[in-house]
Amino acid sequence: MSSTPVSTVGPTPVEAVRLADPYPYYARLVAERPFAFDEALGAWVAADAAAVRAVLGAGALRVRPPAEPVPAGIAGTAAGEVFGELVRMTDGAAALRLKGVVAGALARADLGHAGALAARFTREVLAEGGEVPYEELMFGVPARVVATLSGLTDGAGREAAAAIGEFVRCIPASATRDDHRAASRAAALLRELLGPPLASASAAPLANPAAGPRPSPASPGGRANGLLRELVTAAERGGWPHPGPLLSNAIGFLSQTYDATAGLIGNTLVALARGAYAPDTGALVREVVRHDAPVQNTRRFAAGPFAHAGSTVEPGQQVLVLLAAANRDPSVNPDPHTLSPGRVNPAVFTFGAGAHRCPGGELATALAAAVVDELRTAGWSTTATPAYRPLANARIPLL
Ligand code: HEM
Repeated sequence: MSSTPVSTVGPTPVEAVRLADPYPYYARLVAERPFAFDEALGAWVAADAAAVRAVLGAGALRVRPPAEPVPAGIAGTAAGEVFGELVRMTDGAAALRLKGVVAGALARADLGHAGALAARFTREVLAEGGEVPYEELMFGVPARVVATLSGLTDGAGREAAAAIGEFVRCIPASATRDDHRAASRAAALLRELLGPPLASASAAPLANPAAGPRPSPASPGGRANGLLRELVTAAERGGWPHPGPLLSNAIGFLSQTYDATAGLIGNTLVALARGAYAPDTGALVREVVRHDAPVQNTRRFAAGPFAHAGSTVEPGQQVLVLLAAANRDPSVNPDPHTLSPGRVNPAVFTFGAGAHRCPGGELATALAAAVVDELRTAGWSTTATPAYRPLANARIPLL
């Protein structure tokens, strides 16, 4: 793959997300500044695999600033209420229990059915003809699949897919007042859409409250609102008594899917356009997860001191965690800059690690593989050298 020279001043680790090729820059950080304070950013930067692992495993480092659990601009709104209940955005004993519930539900998602839905929606979108509608394929199709798995019918699924695009506007630190307002309207709509299927999943008797095999498509946990049914089942199994956070985290299934899966589809298409040889689309997608991570970084906020490699992060300081740099650390992945579908036992940080590790990786991979496979079957090809969306952590090409 081609390299873009990095200027002598160099990008910041946040600007790197949207460079055509940020990897020479990341490699330099891994080799020369694996864990260091970045004055320009005003934050610590963890770049190599050891630092990323240590930071993501540290109890003193939290997913939100302790003094601002919910961004001030959405506090007291529907978006703020949802945000404040997401396992992604909370720490502590209750969050850990709820994480078990959320992860338990996603572990039993019917991946075959999810892939089949993604393939069908992709074929339908392509059948409309004209230019390939990348936005719809990258963002719309995965969100509609997760909405369908959550019990929404096609019209409501499209509405939820559009609304989640508005909700995620409140997540970046750079969100404006308009973003906050749009997110709050969207959160209220998403509660209206997902509330009834969650309530009906709660009302239905349990088929089998004990942990068992993935549901068959015909079982009560299988098709109609399978994901929410699994959420309720996992909550009952884990003795989780509060329905409110279940609804917020059902919305979270959509918001966590949205940008990240779009990036995975887009980055896989870019790899193909650059000549990747990969008869097995699934193997290609899994290697793109490592090689060109759709989520390049995440953040932590120190609630107490954290020491690593002779440095100490003080309470109140931030850490930027460069997942995409650690994926290419030669100490954990041999020949890390080569895209190698089928790579054996890669160390992959794209889905995080530790208490907040992503429970949706398999679902995301199944969705992305299905969309890309349909495009390949349809004879898709492009020579695009893309620009990237101006985002601070998701790497999403503009195709
Ligand atoms: C390519 C697609 C995806 C990527 C790259 C990705 C990446 C991540 C990362 C890095 C985290 C941890 C963030 C942190 O520790 O700061 C995370 C958390 C999470 N992801 Fe994903 N994700 C993807 C798709 C999905 C999907 C499809 C779902 C579910 C439908 C999902 C559900 C979640 C949830 C619930 C969390 C919060 C876990 C926690 O905080 O304990 N993700 N994801």
